[in-house]
Amino acid sequence: MTENSKQAAAADKDRVLIFDTTLRDGEQCPGATMTFEEKMEVADFLDAMGVDIIEAGFPIASDGDFEAVSAVAERVKNATVAGLARAGDKDIDRAGAAVGKAVKPRIHTFISTSPVHMKYKLKKEPDEVLELISRSVTRARNLVDDVEWSAEDATRTEPEFLCRCVEAAIKAGAGTINIPDTVGYTVPEEYFALFTMLREQVPNADKAVFSAHCHDDLGLAVANSLAGVRAGVRQIECTINGIGERAGNAALEEIVMAIATRGDALPYATGVDSTLLSRASRLVSVVTNFPVQYNKAIVGRNAFAHESGIHQDGMLKHNQTYEIMTPESVGVSKTSLVMGKHSGRAAFRTKLTDLGYDLGDNQFEDAFTRFKALADRKKHVYDEDIEALVDEEIAHMHDRTKVVALTVIAGSVGPQTATLTLDVEGEHQTVQSTGNGPVDATFNAIKKLLPHNGTLELYQVHAVTQGTDAQAEVSVRLEDDAGRVVTGRGADTDTMVASARAYVAAVNKLMVKREKTTRVQAAV
Ligand code: KIV
Ligand code: ZN
Repeated sequence: MTENSKQAAAADKDRVLIFDTTLRDGEQCPGATMTFEEKMEVADFLDAMGVDIIEAGFPIASDGDFEAVSAVAERVKNATVAGLARAGDKDIDRAGAAVGKAVKPRIHTFISTSPVHMKYKLKKEPDEVLELISRSVTRARNLVDDVEWSAEDATRTEPEFLCRCVEAAIKAGAGTINIPDTVGYTVPEEYFALFTMLREQVPNADKAVFSAHCHDDLGLAVANSLAGVRAGVRQIECTINGIGERAGNAALEEIVMAIATRGDALPYATGVDSTLLSRASRLVSVVTNFPVQYNKAIVGRNAFAHESGIHQDGMLKHNQTYEIMTPESVGVSKTSLVMGKHSGRAAFRTKLTDLGYDLGDNQFEDAFTRFKALADRKKHVYDEDIEALVDEEIAHMHDRTKVVALTVIAGSVGPQTATLTLDVEGEHQTVQSTGNGPVDATFNAIKKLLPHNGTLELYQVHAVTQGTDAQAEVSVRLEDDAGRVVTGRGADTDTMVASARAYVAAVNKLMVKREKTTRVQAAV
């Protein structure tokens, strides 16, 4: 073996595959619906960023999911494209059909193995579950070469039974064995011991790649996943911004940067280009309308901000005093070219490129027009202003309904009145409404033009930058009577306009979500 090939072999051995499930588990997060076009945009970005596997959806769940998985399978160039399936024949065939056109297709099939799930959810005996594992993996292997099998609720499964299930899945041809902590219950030491036990005791364990899939109910998803890696796991399932069921999944950006930053304690590598993490986070936040908490590790707005005098002093002397990784390594640029009303197209385009945006001509023109309007109203236009503006442009690009004009009469003597014009699928419609305050009046006007049964669950405003001329970024969350939750976001220097945009965005999302046929919930 030459020195180079030895190095390559060592690098191979320590490579941890990144399985991104933003489009599947992430999209299951309450309020995080994505349209078809948004899913394509996220898939393209993940592929360019270097994730190894993209789980594009759950094809049996709805026609929309099937179409989205098929389209992702057709367009993705590098990554493996996975479709999720329960253990039933129809699920597996549908997943096989959806991923069929991928360069590297994978069927990911799962069944619950814990006593509580088998008894109450599946209403099946352990032997029946074992039988279904062999049958489902075999069926999937007849459709594609690459099959992943997951033991749902694995961390609450009897260890001896889990061994038998994993053995059956490997015997039937599963190349990847995923051991999910479905309810976010495990702790690092326990998860480490579970993988160690499986790898030691299951016959032919070395024929499969073991995978971690951790939920964050106790805030341990990343720590648990990394404990799995130390025990021999070589695939981590995660999502951008950690979105997912309930408290979410392990955050991809945290996994990638923990491995990149702590090579001494974690001697592994991923194929992800970390300089794209910041943009990936913004993209997913924008298309899901799901805000990223300010102090979120790696991608939160404060992740590289130093507020206290002692920290600022240290940073000025040497950045390693308080920074364990550079902002540039995750794609946060330090450029602070302030833009204003005299900035022209070229400067705006350069700024967009610096911020990591690549807009098509029409989108660029729309964004430039909005930038000019903003610069007329606001003395300094900061990077955050431009990001808020462009993100909104991208997020609302495919909306069927848009805010055209809004006039609100507010003040201490009510009732407050809103006159609103919406573009509803190309037709301008105007309405007037009153309410208990300007926000109520505005939302009542929207409801008159877009009747729906969603209840307002959250209305949140924050300033994008400092100063009284700052843009307001508004988040609105609606829940309908079927329990569907959606979030909309809008930004403008006028808080009422931002509120109207956010509310209309949420109603647009509700319509998209309703159009999807009801997800199949029943157990196999
Ligand atoms: O959390 C879980 O168990 C899952 C499986 C379907 C892999 O998402
Ligand atoms: Zn999950």
